[in-house]
Amino acid sequence: MYFKKNKLFIEKVEGLKIVKKFGTPTYCYSRSKLKNNIKNFQKNFRSINPLICFSVKSNSNLEILKQIKRSGIGADVVSKGEMLQALKAGIPPKKIVFSGVGKKSEELKFAIEKKILLINAESESEIFEIERLAKLKKTNVNIGIRLNPNIDAKTLKKISTGKHEDKFGLTEKAFLNILKNFKKSNFVKVKCLSVHIGSQITDCKPYEKMINVLDRIIKKSNHLYDYVDLGGGMGIQYEKKTKLFNYKRYNSIITKFLKKHKVKIIFEPGRSIIANSAVLFSQIIYIKNTSKKKFIILDAAMNDLMRPALYGSFHNILPLIKSNKKNKKIHDFVGPVCETTDKFLSVKEFSNLKEKEYVAISDVGAYGMSLSSNYNLRPKASEIMIENKSSKVILKRQKLNNIV
Ligand code: LLP
Repeated sequence: MYFKKNKLFIEKVEGLKIVKKFGTPTYCYSRSKLKNNIKNFQKNFRSINPLICFSVKSNSNLEILKQIKRSGIGADVVSKGEMLQALKAGIPPKKIVFSGVGKKSEELKFAIEKKILLINAESESEIFEIERLAKLKKTNVNIGIRLNPNIDAKTLKKISTGKHEDKFGLTEKAFLNILKNFKKSNFVKVKCLSVHIGSQITDCKPYEKMINVLDRIIKKSNHLYDYVDLGGGMGIQYEKKTKLFNYKRYNSIITKFLKKHKVKIIFEPGRSIIANSAVLFSQIIYIKNTSKKKFIILDAAMNDLMRPALYGSFHNILPLIKSNKKNKKIHDFVGPVCETTDKFLSVKEFSNLKEKEYVAISDVGAYGMSLSSNYNLRPKASEIMIENKSSKVILKRQKLNNIV
């Protein structure tokens, strides 16, 4: 995304042309950005040759998953729906891992039938259920057990998953006990130690601590694991002031770990692959001036992009046509939903804007569309893929007929 003569472009297509052609609100992806993100992720960890499983919860659009497949990476899914979508995109079952604290019997059964690589279990009851199903099918099932390493990921509290107070995984003690109990099972084979401590992590230290815990657990386990699944969580730069995640350092920490333990590493990145490949285009419906501020009322709302309302997270906003004049007043970019938290951003000044003009909300590729809802009975936005000079619909705008 860049400005040329004050006009915003995605690859070689002018933003204004996209909104005129497809309407708003619209999620708009750049294929080359997505491809580059995948390539960079692969390059960053080339020396350890991991299995990369894209976290489908961050974005489950079929066209995006097809690109994931074409780039040779697998999928991390958390529901039967996501598993079906990954399979539909052509991702081989042997590159699919299934995570989540509450997998239903029917979902586990489906995963077993499809012979996916691993089911990452998060409780003893879940492993009993997998064992019961495997027995019924007279087969054996490869599982991972998720550890809760009690580590503060130093990220937003609401997206931290690796502390004992969080519902995820098992404590070290429970983990080792369960491992002992299932070691001799004929139906459940513990192949993987899995972990995921949180999302939008920008500091390498929590990962370093996590690896130390894994090292300790493996030593205590007296068990041969084929895989260690490190989850995802690598952060991106939503704001310029955010420091870049140090992949080199993380890679070298893992390299040291692999000298002691001969396992295949699995990653489950979502955000780092897809977040900065998309913007959300929106039209300004009204501008309301008060003595204190300007409310820029957009046609996109918290139902389209939930992150600012849910986590107070930052997404930059850009005009589609930059004006040379700046308006020095507080601008609150808000949506039409009847909630005070339906606000995207507040800035002290902004390029001059008029009603009916358009803006682009940045870095919305991860947990944007996938977290969207029909709140206020608003139809879900469309999704567009840009590739060089071409643009195509990759998800049609929901029709009111389908929800009313
Ligand atoms: N693996 C597991 C087991 C996970 O729970 C998650 C994310 C990931 C991988 C992918 O993490 P990533 O690389 O995308 O950070 N909705 C929130 C983020 C929730 C993340 C949930 N788990 C947000 O919009 O920030």
